[in-house]
Amino acid sequence: MSKTFELETLKIRMGDADLGQLDLHQRVQRAMRALILDGVLLPGLKLPATRSLADSLDMARDTVESAYTQLHRDGFIVRRQGSGSYVSETIGTPLRGRASRCARPLEQERSVPVAGAGLSRRGQAIVDGGGITDQQTIRAFATGLPETRTFPTDVWERLQRQALKDYRASVLLHGDPQGAEPLRKAIATYLNLERGAKVGAEQIVVLSSTRQALFLCAQLLVDAGRPVLLENPGYFGARKAFESAEAKVLPIDVDAQGIRTDLLRADRSGATCVYVTPSHQYPTGVTMQLERRLDLIRWAFESGRWIIEDDYDSEFHYDGMPTACVQGLDKYARTIYIGTFGKTLYPGLRMGYMALPQPLVRPFVQARSIMDGHTPQIQQLTLARFMEDGHYNSHVRAMRKLYAGRREVILESIGKHLAGIVTAPRPQGGMQVPCLLEPGWSEEDTIRCAATAGVLLQGLSRLYAGEHRQPGWLLGYASLTAYEIEAAVLRLANALRKP
Ligand SMILES: Cc1ncc(COP(=O)(O)O)c(C=O)c1O
Repeated sequence: MSKTFELETLKIRMGDADLGQLDLHQRVQRAMRALILDGVLLPGLKLPATRSLADSLDMARDTVESAYTQLHRDGFIVRRQGSGSYVSETIGTPLRGRASRCARPLEQERSVPVAGAGLSRRGQAIVDGGGITDQQTIRAFATGLPETRTFPTDVWERLQRQALKDYRASVLLHGDPQGAEPLRKAIATYLNLERGAKVGAEQIVVLSSTRQALFLCAQLLVDAGRPVLLENPGYFGARKAFESAEAKVLPIDVDAQGIRTDLLRADRSGATCVYVTPSHQYPTGVTMQLERRLDLIRWAFESGRWIIEDDYDSEFHYDGMPTACVQGLDKYARTIYIGTFGKTLYPGLRMGYMALPQPLVRPFVQARSIMDGHTPQIQQLTLARFMEDGHYNSHVRAMRKLYAGRREVILESIGKHLAGIVTAPRPQGGMQVPCLLEPGWSEEDTIRCAATAGVLLQGLSRLYAGEHRQPGWLLGYASLTAYEIEAAVLRLANALRKP
């Protein structure tokens, strides 16, 4: 947060890797826009005159003028004749008035006041609860982003051309709401071989994402006003999905073994399902131990509940073999398994899937047909080829190796530069490191301070329900090179230690 315009902050942001391909005026414009959206440049702040900024940045005045023109056109800044340019007063309004006006962390639920839109009570509650903002650029330390810069797009393109040729006009027509058969077969084979699942292609439903799967679970399994059990701390996307169906979300604590099944057994709320991330608990990184898994399954069977297993990044397990999924251990068929290609391939693909117990297949497919019909055919058939030809497994293997190396780099950098500020327990897998703040450091202040250095931190405490909230951050590292990780950790440490 700046009361004055800080040139260094703009320069740092202009150096972000994802802006590297853009023209100079676009880099200035995008960096300023990001600083405004992050709350670093506050509403009403006077911006430097174009000539003076151009001199400071060693570029032509026209370049800065184009950037300002675009920012003005998009409503980020206002230009007053004879007075100069200012950050728009309206742009930051929803963020203003918050304690210390902290910068917006990654993927934060952003609530936008909507008056007089004639929304339903449910619609208004959804808006009031806030949406999910995905990070759309590569940036330290955005969470949930895989390596995308080296994705084998040439192979993908070739397979897509082949699929178009082989399936001809049929891919241009509507597809099966359950998903294209070749892809469902490929997913079932993969899950059985690599994740220890026990499923047939007829149990697979191809969707756009984990979030769509959770939305369907909320719609189909929980009545309005009825309870649902969620891990605490836990994934806010799951909470949002259930809250938007007007369910009552009840937190169940997680310990070093995973979700506490003693608390599940003590639950008398009448909840029909529990949401869990057993392979790699979000955000603590804990792997649910076998005994706990079996106990969870027994509990679900005895009390007739559903287990919703979100297996979002289990492929990336670095020490030993990844644990088999709960679905494969569950001989009572009480588990609804959810997977996503957004982490193993790339998030822009928008493809995920569910492996459902038989009785749930028809209801889910029907609900899905109402929601959005089906997933794009050509993408599904290309992905099926990608899996059948072995590219998927080799890509996952290569990424696992790459991320394991990046995990070492980030842990080492944290140890070297952030000792005394955070401790980072070594995660066994995944694409992010949870960092626990040492006493005396405020989560909110550190997030705000990091934003001025161009570093995004996702706060840990807001992923908790109830009184006890662990302050800290979740640092995503999978999409960053070793150099970018080290440089950003150093930049962060310098910003935090600045007197
Ligand atoms: C625990 C968890 N599940 C699911 C997702 C999102 O998956 P998708 O983009 O497929 O909705 C995320 C995203 O980071 C996540 O952290």
